[in-house]
Amino acid sequence: SLVVPSVVELAKESSTSIPSRYLRSDIEKAVVPDGDRVLEIPVIDMQKLVSGGPNNSEVEKLDFACKEWGFFQLINHGVDSTLLENLKAEIDAFFKLPMEEKKKWWQSPGNAEGFGQAFVVSEDQKLDWGDLFFMVTFPRRLRNPNLIPSLPSPLSESMERYTSDLNNLSTAMLEKIAEALHMETEEMTEFVGEGRQTIRINCYPPCELSDQVMGLTPHSDATLITILLQLNDVDGLEIRKDGKWVQVQPLPNAFIINVGDILEIMSNGRYRSIEHRGTVHPVKERFSFAAFFGPRLDGELGPAPSLISEQTPAKFRRATVQEFYKGLFARRLQGKAYVDTFK
Ligand code: SIN
Ligand code: FE2
Repeated sequence: SLVVPSVVELAKESSTSIPSRYLRSDIEKAVVPDGDRVLEIPVIDMQKLVSGGPNNSEVEKLDFACKEWGFFQLINHGVDSTLLENLKAEIDAFFKLPMEEKKKWWQSPGNAEGFGQAFVVSEDQKLDWGDLFFMVTFPRRLRNPNLIPSLPSPLSESMERYTSDLNNLSTAMLEKIAEALHMETEEMTEFVGEGRQTIRINCYPPCELSDQVMGLTPHSDATLITILLQLNDVDGLEIRKDGKWVQVQPLPNAFIINVGDILEIMSNGRYRSIEHRGTVHPVKERFSFAAFFGPRLDGELGPAPSLISEQTPAKFRRATVQEFYKGLFARRLQGKAYVDTFK
């Protein structure tokens, strides 16, 4: 992918100098939830999810959330709140380092890791109003061994702990999702294998022309599940619900978890990955941290055999995981267009 300039740096200049490749004329406005009709996505309690026995009603709530919403908030997730608070402050400081220092972590042609943008495949496509920091984190053998240790301390220690906690959480969550889908645990664990985690930290600087720029283009995630943490108190995540864009208002330190394309395929369309986007605030910067979980790279994608029957025939074709990612990174982000090519 192509290397692009820092939006954090661009945002320091006057709004009259915003390059046209960030300006869009086709941004649909979100529906503003009015006082007593705030749209709340389902809230799932991790403790109830793991402690209940058979017929656990929290598992039914999880099934409903994945089926009807594709998004939910997770509370009582067990990740230490001091760690979350430290991470927030350390990431803020990291993105505020002078450009001279940040350069050493900037993306290079053909290497998606570090600061930059994703899915930039041509010189003339619209760009997002934000900088990201992307990294492969699990399995450890796929890591760039120099990347986490090169981060400023104590961010490097916090990243190590946070990504490892989230890797465990995602494994536990996928087991519960298997239960909700009435799949055998083994069918899920075999499909996931050693699994794969990548992370993307987003910084969306403010922009006076906030209704003409997009922090993150509408897309669905190419994952099994994504675990998102909003890092400051500026909201900006919007999901497409019944055809309209609606803002999500996260509970403090709750995780926003969403169904990704790979889970939609594996569940044979029972669960749906939902289109979402990141908006930009006119005067405040916004930070978020997304952790993406996918299956092992040497496996195959397709509807789980146990979910296919005469009544529910396969809705997606089979493909290797490698083929799936290769096609994904050859395109720009565009709603749910990519997953539809596997129908
Ligand atoms: C994402 O879609 O990965 C992140 C959206 C956000 O910043 O809330
Ligand atoms: Fe996303």
